[in-house]
Amino acid sequence: MKRAIYPGSFDPVTNGHLDIIARSARLVDELIVGVLNNRAKNALFSAEDRVSMLKELTSHYPNVTIEAFDGLLVDYAKRNDAAIIVRGLRAVTDFEYELQIAQTNHEIYEQIETIFLTTRLEYAYLSSTIVKEVASYGGDISRFVPQQIIARVYAKYGIEGFGK
Ligand code: PNS
Repeated sequence: MKRAIYPGSFDPVTNGHLDIIARSARLVDELIVGVLNNRAKNALFSAEDRVSMLKELTSHYPNVTIEAFDGLLVDYAKRNDAAIIVRGLRAVTDFEYELQIAQTNHEIYEQIETIFLTTRLEYAYLSSTIVKEVASYGGDISRFVPQQIIARVYAKYGIEGFGK
């Protein structure tokens, strides 16, 4: 049984994240999407909201579950008996950070392996930070995030009437 964790902040989930979920769910028996519940990080959405949005968007995948986690990722992986961490790699700029995390995680817990899926070219520029930046100025985020959450993102910036 291959169980993997796809961890992240997902604040908010983007089309790029959903693409990684769809592709990694095909590679493993069970995929747990771990939503980092980091109170220190100034998140736009609460962990509960991020989990519920992801649940809504992935309910059609029988082998995908969504959970919030805090603490060290490797401890969470151990608790869930998962030996694989999945991360998306967009561009060279991601590489250094991702390499550092993957090597640290492997150093702390030798059984854990990180696999990287390269993002689709169409999402190579995309990040939750970019989505927030564009939405905060009332720009169009309809190509960046799933339709179901567009209005929820704008609402965080007091912008109503989008995505309806
Ligand atoms: O979507 P993000 O913010 O790039 O995801 C970062 C994440 C959640 C993968 C990373 O911050 C993480 O694993 N945090 C939990 C604490 C931890 O285990 N850190 C890695 C060891 S340095």
